[in-house]
Amino acid sequence: MNKPKILVVGSMNMDLYVEGANRLPAFGESVQCGHYGYAPGGKGANQAVAVAKQGADVFMVGRVGDDAYGKTMKEAMESEGVHTDCVVTDSKRQTGLALMLINEDGRYVSYVGMGANDGVCEEDVRAAMDKESFDMVIMQLEMPLETVYRTYELAKERKIPVFLDAGPAMKIPLDRLKGLFILSPNEAETKALTGISPDTEEAAAAAAKQLYEEAEPEYVLLKLGSKGALLYDGTKSELIPCFKVDAVDSTAAGDTFGAALAIRLCKGDEIHTAIRFAHAAAGICVSRLGAQISIPTEEEVEEFLAERS
Ligand code: ATP
Ligand code: RIB
Repeated sequence: MNKPKILVVGSMNMDLYVEGANRLPAFGESVQCGHYGYAPGGKGANQAVAVAKQGADVFMVGRVGDDAYGKTMKEAMESEGVHTDCVVTDSKRQTGLALMLINEDGRYVSYVGMGANDGVCEEDVRAAMDKESFDMVIMQLEMPLETVYRTYELAKERKIPVFLDAGPAMKIPLDRLKGLFILSPNEAETKALTGISPDTEEAAAAAAKQLYEEAEPEYVLLKLGSKGALLYDGTKSELIPCFKVDAVDSTAAGDTFGAALAIRLCKGDEIHTAIRFAHAAAGICVSRLGAQISIPTEEEVEEFLAERS
């Protein structure tokens, strides 16, 4: 397959990031930090931009408000080649906003004002699926849960494989998602879904097995930050380390990882080769500040891999 056609369903947020948030404030307290800035983000939009930058044809289903952030978000995605005809401008809601507080290790805590993301619905998804045929659907949980389920059911009816990035962390029933292609939570999301903290390889493997039994996907792939990723295929689990980089900001690393992996699989890579590529894409993302602006192109990932081979 040369240029895969991908549908991304999910959130679009303007991110307001603050660096130097090295401790959490108590209620009623302010912690003084350093530099701040605005950057287009949102798990769905980040995935769509990552997919476009990895050389696929990508259509976004999502919602923004009728406001300046919404306009900026759409323009940012269009400039990366994402088709935004199926992005709805919702005049009753604001564009989503994520407050990203980043510490000196590049890790963040975040508050998300969901705004228009709360309006993403089955009809939005159906309109896109009726218009085009897709090789894969990529989604996450930063939208109403019923939309997640219906997106999966609509994709299944059309025999389109679905990649679910299980962020943000929440406990959801997985029975309506049985038969996913890939289920991919990070550490916090794994803990929320299974009750198991994947702090050791054994614990991660146990959590992956539990998720596999509940959702019956082809693969469970846990994202374990600087430790890499754990792949479980129903018979064995394997920890696949990532690359060593100078971490600046992990925002969008998980989104980049999932999108790059999905595209490589669509392009015919074997799963381990695809994970290595996704680790490289996410590693570059972690070494840069911001969400969509930190996502590398396919060429940048290939150069990174060539330097490390
Ligand atoms: P996000 O920060 O976007 O929410 P996530 O929590 O979903 O990300 P992580 O587990 O943090 O996902 O990371 C996803 C991938 O990013 C990892 O599998 C790895 O490839 C890469 N990565 C994350 N942190 C680091 C790091 N410190 N050094 C190198 N690579 C990293
Ligand atoms: O995954 C990172 C994203 O999560 C950020 O861009 C922010 O918008 C939050 O939704």
